[in-house]
Amino acid sequence: MSAAAILRAPADAPAVPAHVPPELVLDTRFANGQIANDLADPYAPTDALRDPAFPRIHYYPWPTSGNQHGAWVVTRYEDIRRVYEDNALFSTEGVAQFQMLAGEHWPSIPLGIDPPNHGKYRKFLNPWFTPVAMKRMEPRIRGIIGEMIGAFAERGEVDIAHDFGRVFPVRVFLDLMGFPFAMFDQFLDWEWDILHEPAIATKAAAVGGILAYLRGFIAEKQAAPDATLGSYIANGRIEDRPLTPEEVLGMTWFLWLGGLDTVASSVSQMFRRLGMDPALQARICDNPAIIPTAVEEFLRVQPLVNSGRRVKRDFTWHGVHIKEGDWVSVFNSSGNFDPGQFDAPRRFEPTRTANRHFTLSGGVHLCLGAHLARRELRVLLEEWFTRIPQPFAIKPGTDTTVVPGLLSIRHLPIVWNVPASK
Ligand code: HEM
Repeated sequence: MSAAAILRAPADAPAVPAHVPPELVLDTRFANGQIANDLADPYAPTDALRDPAFPRIHYYPWPTSGNQHGAWVVTRYEDIRRVYEDNALFSTEGVAQFQMLAGEHWPSIPLGIDPPNHGKYRKFLNPWFTPVAMKRMEPRIRGIIGEMIGAFAERGEVDIAHDFGRVFPVRVFLDLMGFPFAMFDQFLDWEWDILHEPAIATKAAAVGGILAYLRGFIAEKQAAPDATLGSYIANGRIEDRPLTPEEVLGMTWFLWLGGLDTVASSVSQMFRRLGMDPALQARICDNPAIIPTAVEEFLRVQPLVNSGRRVKRDFTWHGVHIKEGDWVSVFNSSGNFDPGQFDAPRRFEPTRTANRHFTLSGGVHLCLGAHLARRELRVLLEEWFTRIPQPFAIKPGTDTTVVPGLLSIRHLPIVWNVPASK
């Protein structure tokens, strides 16, 4: 039996458009951040998607990429790159438009805007996210991470996912934007409901809650401007005119959505891998100079998001007829392990160079927070191995089941021996 036959979508899967051949409607939820497993490499099953017997393009009937539609799926590195880079054919209009659940129709900015308009918003936001800007932020990032690790280092134990990874990126982000720390728990509750709760009413209530909050926050920053990114946007100008209220909200909202959960999920998967691999811990601890390439390799092997795009005109690809208005989803969960692009892709190689993975997307919508995410992960590893050089292990009895996607793993207790002299 071919790989494709094994994965045929079940009879109760959502209906698909009439032009989609039934034999191409497949069940690849395991590769779309939906199904947990407990493998050392939780993305290993995605190799099936690049089996020669597996169709180059298939149709995924369930809602994906934050939309309410099914989508065509590509799984090879070069096909994914085409979707990210061919802006004449693939649009981001309508991607991750959760605000529609609350009856609002303005675009998420910059993600929901196509070139050339997209460029002017990136030009406006980029100065806050360049490597130079990150260098300025680094002492603050190091301060937050160092203080938090210092608070538990002598305990010999921490739930690294829930009590650390979930918390520190949000503290950095609140700081950057100028959101009050008092909103911490409420923000995480809203974020969780929007991204991870299946019930539409729950998602809609959370979207309504955060948008009402953001409107108040923007008004405050307009009344009393300060040196934060939130204030810069609220009082922003583009092309010699003030940003419109919808542009301000579209940007503030999308930064809020993109900046909270992603680094947390990366940290939890990174420590799960390290906890299972003492030799890797030792290698990084003994050679901190490899931390930057190791961070890139952690990002490659733990893609969190499979991006979606809307097709702008009818075309044929790999013999499949795709229509204007169809959606295409790129499975980074497969493309990041394509042997056509990466030598020995299932090997974790902390010194890998030319590591052009898709975890932070590709093309013009390459993650705006990419340098911030990298910097946070790098500083974390530096501070960790300086402050806790002794090996750590996942606490015996822990359920290490992980969802290979944004949900990742919510609790990951780890333990280490505290030297008696301390
Ligand atoms: C490891 C952490 C992160 C991952 C894996 C990640 C992933 C991504 C991906 C895949 C996209 C593109 C989505 C698409 O093409 O459809 C994206 C875009 C974006 N991300 Fe991130 N992200 C991370 C951290 C952050 C942070 C910390 C921020 C902000 C503080 C951020 C802000 C954004 C913004 C604003 C965009 C839209 C860029 C554009 O459309 O030009 N991200 N991110």
